[in-house]
Amino acid sequence: MSRKSSWRNRLSFYLLAIGSACGLGNLWRFPYIVGENGGGAFLLLYVFLAFTVGLTLLIAELMIGHFTGVSILKASKRVALQYKRPIHLFGWLSVFISAVTLAYYSVICGWVLHYLTQFLLSLFQAQPISYLSQTSMMTLYQNSWLQFLLASVHLLISIVIVVKGFAEGVERWIASILPLFGILVIILLVKSLSLDSTPDVLRFLFYPDFSKLTWASIGHAVGHVFFTLSLGFGTMVTFGSYFKKDEKLPVIGFRVTFVDTLISILAVLLIFPIAFSSSKKPLTDPSLLFEVLPQFLAREKGGVFFGLIFFLCLWLAALNASIGLLETVTANLVEKKPELKRSLSAWIAGFFILGLTVIPAFSGTLFKSFKVHGQGFIETMDSFLINGLLPIAGLGMVIIALLSLTEADRKKLFVQDASPTSYNMYTHWRFALKWVVPIVILLGLGFQLFEFVSY
Ligand code: PFF
Repeated sequence: MSRKSSWRNRLSFYLLAIGSACGLGNLWRFPYIVGENGGGAFLLLYVFLAFTVGLTLLIAELMIGHFTGVSILKASKRVALQYKRPIHLFGWLSVFISAVTLAYYSVICGWVLHYLTQFLLSLFQAQPISYLSQTSMMTLYQNSWLQFLLASVHLLISIVIVVKGFAEGVERWIASILPLFGILVIILLVKSLSLDSTPDVLRFLFYPDFSKLTWASIGHAVGHVFFTLSLGFGTMVTFGSYFKKDEKLPVIGFRVTFVDTLISILAVLLIFPIAFSSSKKPLTDPSLLFEVLPQFLAREKGGVFFGLIFFLCLWLAALNASIGLLETVTANLVEKKPELKRSLSAWIAGFFILGLTVIPAFSGTLFKSFKVHGQGFIETMDSFLINGLLPIAGLGMVIIALLSLTEADRKKLFVQDASPTSYNMYTHWRFALKWVVPIVILLGLGFQLFEFVSY
C-alpha cells in the first residue's frame, strides 16, 4: 500500500511531525549551543525565533507538500519551469543537506549507541560504577573505526526499516513511546534540580545577560530553530504530502513547535545543574551531554538501569528522526527516477549516505589538526551545515511557498473550516513569511559572515 493513502487518523500526523522534530537536536545540540552563546539571553532569543520564524516556515513547508502532493525536488522543479528561474537548485540543496546531515547525525547516534551498550555491559560488572566512570567521550572520539562501525549499524537499521516499508509503523510506534521518554526526562530533572548548583543554573538561564549575545547569535539561533524543527530539509514538505485533505496545518505547526521547544528547555534544565556541579565540564562542547549525564547517573542509586532506559529512549527518538531524513532523500529519489523501485532507491540513498559518514566518523583522527578559528572539524562542519546552508535552503522554501501556491490556495489551507485560525491570523502569517523570515535569515547569515571574516 502506498504510504500516501495509509495515514488515516489525526494523531498519526502529530506523531509523524513531532517524532521528526524531537531528537538529538533537543537533548544533545541545544544545551551546548545555549552554553556557547552565554545562556539566558540566547534562550529568550531562541524561543522568540522558534515561534516567529520557525512556526511560520513550518506551516509553509507543510503547505507546500500538502498542496502539491510531491516532495521538495519536484515542487521546486515545477516552480522553476513556470517562472523560468533556477529555483530547483533550492530543492537540490535541501536534499543534499538531508543526506549530509543524516551522515553526521548517524555518527552522533553511534555515540548514543556506545553509551547504551556501556550501560548494558555495566549491568554485568561487579563494579558497574567504576566500569562506567572509565567510559569517556575522548576515548570514543579517538577511535574512528568504532565510531564508523556504530554509525553504520545505526544507518543500516534505518535503511532496512525504510526499504521494508516499515517506516510508518516504526515511526508511529517510536513516537508513541515519546511520552515515556518525557516522563524519564522529568524524573531526571527532579534529581538534577535538587543539586546545589541549581540556583546558579537558574540565574544563568533566566536572568538574561544581553551583553553575552553577539550579533552572530541570531544566526546560531536561526540555525538551531531550523535543525530542531526539521526545516529546510524538505522533510516537512514530504510529510505534508502524506496528510489528509482537511488537516489543520497551523494547528499542527503550533503544537509541534510548542512540544519541541518545551523538550529543549527541559533538556537544558536537566543538563546544566549536573554540568555546573562538576566544574571542569565546559558547557560549550558537543560532548557535553555524553560527558555529563553518564557520570552523574553512574553515581546515583539505580542510575545504571535508569541510564540504560534513558539512552535507549534517546536512541529510539534519534532513530525516528533518522528514518524521516532517509525517507525524505528516498522520496525525492523515487520522484526523480520513477523507474527505480522504492526499495532500491532506499538502498542507493542509504549507501551513498553511509559513504559520507566516513568524514565525520574519522574527524577525530584524520582531521585531528583541522582547526578553523579555534574550532575542530565536527563543530566547523556543524556550523557550516546548520547555521549556514540550512537557512539558505529555508529561504528557498519561502520562495517556493510564495510561488507554487496562489494567495487563494494559501488562504484556504490556512483558514480551514472549523479551524481556530482566522483571516486576520493569515495576514500576519503571510507578512511573516514574506518579510520577517527572509530578513531574519539574511541578517543571521550576514552577521555570521561578518564575524567570520573579522575574527
Ligand atoms: N529535528 C531533529 C532533531 O532535533 O534531532 C533533526 C532532524 C530530523 C532534522 C529529521 C531533519 C529531519 F528531517
